[in-house]
Amino acid sequence: MKGKFFAIEEAKAFELIERTGKMMPAHRGIDRRCFIVGEYAVLSTSRLKLRNVDVRDDKLSHLNDIIEKLLLLEREGVNVVPILGYCYDPDSMDGEGFLIELRARGAEMYDDAMICKFEAWTQDNDEVYLKSDADCAEYITNRTRELALAPQAHYDKFIADMLEIMKRDILIDFMGKSNFFYDREAGFQFIDLDTHTDSHYGLCEDTISNKEVAAIGGFAPCHFAEGTSAFAPIALVPSALAELGEVRLAALAESNSLIFEKCLAALKANGVSDAVLDKTLQRLKVFDRRCC
Ligand SMILES: Nc1ncnc2c1ncn2[C@@H]1O[C@H](COP(=O)(O)OP(=O)(O)OP(=O)(O)O)[C@@H](O)[C@H]1O
Ligand SMILES: [Mg+2]
Repeated sequence: MKGKFFAIEEAKAFELIERTGKMMPAHRGIDRRCFIVGEYAVLSTSRLKLRNVDVRDDKLSHLNDIIEKLLLLEREGVNVVPILGYCYDPDSMDGEGFLIELRARGAEMYDDAMICKFEAWTQDNDEVYLKSDADCAEYITNRTRELALAPQAHYDKFIADMLEIMKRDILIDFMGKSNFFYDREAGFQFIDLDTHTDSHYGLCEDTISNKEVAAIGGFAPCHFAEGTSAFAPIALVPSALAELGEVRLAALAESNSLIFEKCLAALKANGVSDAVLDKTLQRLKVFDRRCC
């Protein structure tokens, strides 16, 4: 195992990794398992040498650049959860290893394992995600209410931070609602930041401004209805919503509309123009009372 340790002692990092050997993961992502050890999160991965799915980063120079940028962003007060260090098997094909981070505060904005059964992308795709047996209908209703009650200042900072992260060419995966955490004191935080944008790697032209991206991604705390063009894979499916029942659906729609208004106000407060918003709102169908 080879490693690089930016903001954690090497011995501490290896001690944390050793402890995960006897633990069950707290969460499973697409590639990763996440172990919570005290104030730390240890993430196992089999793709440390790959950025953005298939960009090879054999020397990990892109990853090192991101880690340095994340540590700077954190120092500037942006709510990113930085990577403290990593270690991996250099001989493995795509990089089997571990990332070590601080544990994010609060909980996932929404736990994807809980809400994915209501979303379009899992309907014909039963095995792709570890679904939860817990009461998902109660969970989505209550969590949406909690987020609807979050202060406007937290939404304003969510957008401000998003713009700062994008300024550094770091990719935010808005499709995963578990890539954001929410804590009543700390507000929204960003995790799962380990790759640059496609344009940074020369995979496409940089034609869309960060504010235009934010005018879509900034609505990530909302739920979307069938027929939405942006966020289509995570639109709530009518058949799945039947499980929620009339009363919870009405509550969900009301909370979701409140969240939408807060996201919209935050985007405007951060200088996203009405013209940009008018354009992007045509691509979004937000779940509201008309969808019940
Ligand atoms: N720093 C952290 N603190 C607390 N929980 C975390 C932290 N990092 C990850 N997690 C948990 O583990 C889950 C998976 O982590 P992450 O999003 O980084 O991986 P992933 O979605 O599998 O990434 P990818 O799709 O790029 O492989 C998160 O959604 C979250 O629940
Ligand atoms: Mg993720």
